[in-house]
Amino acid sequence: MKTLLSLLREQMAQAMGAAFATPINPSAVELFPCAQKAFGHYQCNSALSLAKSLRLPPQEVARRIIAQLDTSLAEKVEIAGPGFINITLSSLFLSKELEQQKNDLLLGAAAPEEKKRIIVEFSSPNVAKELHIGHIRSTIIGDAIARLFEFLGHDVLRLNHVGDWGTQFGMLITYMKRFAPAVLRGEEETALEDLMRWYRAAKEEFDRDPEFKKRAQLEVVALQSGDEESLRCWKLLCRISRIGFQQIYDLLDVKIEERGESFYNPLLKKIVDAFESAGLVHLSDGAKCVSLEGFKNREGEALPMIIQKSDGGYNYATTDLAAFYHRIFVEKADRIVIVADVGQSLHFQMLVAAVEKIGWLDSQKVHFDHVGFGLVLGNDGKKFKTRSGNTEKLIDLLTQAIDHAGALIQERLPNAPLEERKMLERVLGIGAVKYADLASCRTKDYTFSYERMLRFEGNTATFLLYAYVRIQGIKRKAGCPLEERLLFPILVQHPTEIALALHIRRFGEIIDQVTQDLLMHKLADYLYELAETFHLFFRDCQVIGSPEEKSRLALADLTGRILHQGLLILGLRTVERM
Ligand code: ARG
Repeated sequence: MKTLLSLLREQMAQAMGAAFATPINPSAVELFPCAQKAFGHYQCNSALSLAKSLRLPPQEVARRIIAQLDTSLAEKVEIAGPGFINITLSSLFLSKELEQQKNDLLLGAAAPEEKKRIIVEFSSPNVAKELHIGHIRSTIIGDAIARLFEFLGHDVLRLNHVGDWGTQFGMLITYMKRFAPAVLRGEEETALEDLMRWYRAAKEEFDRDPEFKKRAQLEVVALQSGDEESLRCWKLLCRISRIGFQQIYDLLDVKIEERGESFYNPLLKKIVDAFESAGLVHLSDGAKCVSLEGFKNREGEALPMIIQKSDGGYNYATTDLAAFYHRIFVEKADRIVIVADVGQSLHFQMLVAAVEKIGWLDSQKVHFDHVGFGLVLGNDGKKFKTRSGNTEKLIDLLTQAIDHAGALIQERLPNAPLEERKMLERVLGIGAVKYADLASCRTKDYTFSYERMLRFEGNTATFLLYAYVRIQGIKRKAGCPLEERLLFPILVQHPTEIALALHIRRFGEIIDQVTQDLLMHKLADYLYELAETFHLFFRDCQVIGSPEEKSRLALADLTGRILHQGLLILGLRTVERM
């Protein structure tokens, strides 16, 4: 179904075309939702720019456009200020639109013109190194973005670019050969927490003892040259880490395919060769570098991208170039999204410059987004850190959210069966963590607080789930099955009812927006406003027992379905009572 915005732009373009006998492209029509509700629903500013090219007074231009406008859709069309056109949609038009929307598979969102192959890379923790809350943030945001594209019917590949290759393994294996040989032999069980502890100890040893350092470096060489014993140890470490990561994904209800850095190893040499044969490589202190225009370091000197170190080793950037290559030419992606903290912005800008320079990335054909996000802060306003930053603590963080939610549920539904309470705790606790993250603009830092994320008022998961539960309650009370409700025609009349209808109809507009800028908080804001608008409607309009009962039930039902769908895109589940 077309969005209201594109529908109105088409109508305006038609009226403008008829008024001045020139074809107008609908996408060029300047039309937006009114900033202030008192002025109307939508505002069109095109009369002003048209007036300039036509050399006519803008108000006159506006008058002539309005004369050509199909007035059946509007209750009021007014000229304001120098020539703005304010449109207030009619309740009949909105009612008809909702009638279509409630039978629409995408609930009023516009189906994409083409199904696209979209890669969403997110989470991407590092084996044996610190797993931090930033990785949880990446997981929550990336999952929501993937869900958004899946909802629209795209072909989505979710990738976990695990940091599973690098010099850390040399240190770690060397350390474990001495202190945990039984684990390396596979005779003793261990967990990710131990690996992280050993990694930290290994790092200390590496910095302290030149003998250890030497052995660790030899171990890296052995691993990279495919030594069987080293490879076996490496695989074991990856397997242990994977179990730890999976615990978090299970709690968060996130599906993702692992394709770590090591996957691209076989490509690295070819990547460097390709840059060399394109004549894009120069040597600097023995390292192979690609120079990129416009990138400077703090001293103002040119900042090249190193793609092979002087010792012959490849690095993070080489792997990312290979990943780009693979995603464009093997996976045939139309769009590539990488969710990683804003601290890596420069890295991704340089990558894009490099793949554009060699001609692999044509921004006309493949769209790339680095979806950056800010820090998670603690209540003290400082960077949030679990003590010693291990996974146990990160899992604690999630289970604590579930515990906090449990206390709320216990208060509200003390007599509910244990099983139901457990389910509710989990939905609410995990939902609260996800929503708190997604509802704040991702590029900014956000403050982690259980107390705030579980509040019943304001823009929280609790508030939205509660609105949904309330709607389910009304439907239960009315006691008619879904098939019947879908048949009830919607006819909105009361002002708060009209406001709700308009907001419902705008769902597609928000989905469009978010698909472009990947700022999920806009969807959260929309849902929050939807819940609030619904509460106002429910305050002002009697549903059950009123002459308008059927239409209002259908309206409540549609609100509920959009809330459910919107929350699902954000990775939240809904419940029937709370
Ligand atoms: N493993 C990296 C980290 O923990 C994130 C990877 C981001 N993705 C990429 N293609 N470089 O910081």
